[in-house]
Amino acid sequence: MLNIAVILGTTRPNRASGPIGKWVMEHAAKKEGWNAELIDLRDWPLPFFNEPQPVMALNGEYSVPLAKEWSKKIAGMDAFIVVTAEYNHGYPAVLKNALDYLYAEWTNKPVAFVAYGNAGGARSVEQLREVVGELQMHDIREAVHVMAPWFAIKDEAFTQGEVYEKKLGMTLSQLDWWAKLLKDGRDGK
Ligand SMILES: Cc1cc2nc3c(=O)[nH]c(=O)nc-3n(C[C@H](O)[C@H](O)[C@H](O)COP(=O)(O)O)c2cc1C
Repeated sequence: MLNIAVILGTTRPNRASGPIGKWVMEHAAKKEGWNAELIDLRDWPLPFFNEPQPVMALNGEYSVPLAKEWSKKIAGMDAFIVVTAEYNHGYPAVLKNALDYLYAEWTNKPVAFVAYGNAGGARSVEQLREVVGELQMHDIREAVHVMAPWFAIKDEAFTQGEVYEKKLGMTLSQLDWWAKLLKDGRDGK
């Protein structure tokens, strides 16, 4: 089984990542060979990264106890689906902070993006592709870019269209392919 994390990249009240992440989880949970888990950054209130050493020199000796738990959680995952908004043409700070806390735990693992915004969150995803490249992750070309999701969210549910269903299916298939390949690679097969 592959351990797949669906990460909610925003934390504010009334966030769109909640309903959209729920929709992604419904699909991820049905995928054969996947053990999908929702990782809600609201449950991981990491302070702004403020360690005296860069992550690679820390050897896991974080001053923040929650960071050690965060490290364990991410180390146990084989692939990621990041559900992200676009804040001022970029990624949400809370998401970048959660990424910055770790290094090896992300490395050689694939990541897919489900984004949303006035331009489908495209500018946020472009920035994130650069960030995950530095973490030595493999970013999936396929992605879901939801236009103006606030028109499709009612009563905490995201009413998705056929196009988004298809795009999510293609994205998850690509992620699955890379997750297996990279897991074998990490396992030395
Ligand atoms: C601080 C802030 C900056 C924003 N900047 C952008 C932006 O640059 N582009 C865009 O498409 N939407 C922008 N929006 C609108 C968001 O797409 C919209 O509020 C979305 O629901 C935010 O995601 P969230 O609900 O998960 O927090 C911004 C929203 C906030 C709160």
